[in-house]
Amino acid sequence: MSETGEVLIAWYEVNRRELPWRETRDPYLVWISEVILQQTRVAQGLEYYLRFTRRFPDVSSLAAAGEEEVLKYWQGLGYYSRARHVHAAAREIMERFDGVFPSTYEEVLSLKGVGEYTASAICSFAHGLPRATVDGNVTRVLSRLHGVDIPADSGEGRRCFTALAREMMVTRDPGLYNQAMMEFGALQCVPRSPACGECPLVERCVAFATRRVALLPVKRGKTVVKPRYFHYLRVRSGGMTLLSRRTGKDIWQHLHEFPLIETDEPAGFDELCRDDRFRELLDGVTLASVAERVAPRKHVLSHRVIHARFYDLEVTAFSPAMQRYTRVPDNEVGEYAVSRLMQYYLEHGG
Ligand code: ADE
Repeated sequence: MSETGEVLIAWYEVNRRELPWRETRDPYLVWISEVILQQTRVAQGLEYYLRFTRRFPDVSSLAAAGEEEVLKYWQGLGYYSRARHVHAAAREIMERFDGVFPSTYEEVLSLKGVGEYTASAICSFAHGLPRATVDGNVTRVLSRLHGVDIPADSGEGRRCFTALAREMMVTRDPGLYNQAMMEFGALQCVPRSPACGECPLVERCVAFATRRVALLPVKRGKTVVKPRYFHYLRVRSGGMTLLSRRTGKDIWQHLHEFPLIETDEPAGFDELCRDDRFRELLDGVTLASVAERVAPRKHVLSHRVIHARFYDLEVTAFSPAMQRYTRVPDNEVGEYAVSRLMQYYLEHGG
């Protein structure tokens, strides 16, 4: 059982819109609704769906119609090849399946114009088969929930999001789970400015925890490059240098570095001096000298750009706040495992 999936279903039961294709398990009606909704938004799609299914209520009526008339009912939706495929597939069902809508995933997928998404929608909504529907809404929910920044429109992205959607699936009712995911993406986890304060998944959401909601999902060609501003303080006194070891879920786990202050925006030394963390660290000590020996350095990682500055601080004695750092003889700092960025400084910072 998927606990997150159950939370989504509970949310869905309260927030769902009443839509006619949700009241049926007729695969034909599900199919028509899904093809229309690939073209347009729900509000406009609803009118088309009602008109189309009133005129063509089942496979046989659609198969019997002429192409001209089918296209007329599609007019304004665009992608007319889809209408022609739907029409051709209806005739295929009459011929290959004796007019009975196929019930296995492979058979449904074999129909003209039916891809993985549509086949999964039909099979889960109408037949209760455990197939995950992965559309744009679902991708957005998954990328944020799991903090995945693999481009959604790449092969790797599609495989990844399909796998995640399957893992989360509530197998007691795959169709309900899929509807809940899609509706959640459409109404709650919206592309711009989602109301995360009201979200039932906020505590599990990796994007929220890492402040990447607005950056996810990623499209191919656009890598998320989140700038970070690192201010390293090489604090030395009496031949000893302060170091700490990185912990937590972040870059460079377990590597060593100088005391670090990270800011959300670029900051110069004056601004740093006003930062509470800086003041606490230096509280009670006398600064004998300050130097910035290397130019600000831009360090590029796969999904990050770090703008780093290094300051050399010579102090007369270590402050109480400095006790939490490891003291290392100046000439032994090079023996510790450090990031490439730290390494650069150790080689160029004198
Ligand atoms: N968009 C695509 N399929 C949908 C569905 N079944 N319900 C609402 N919106 C959708």
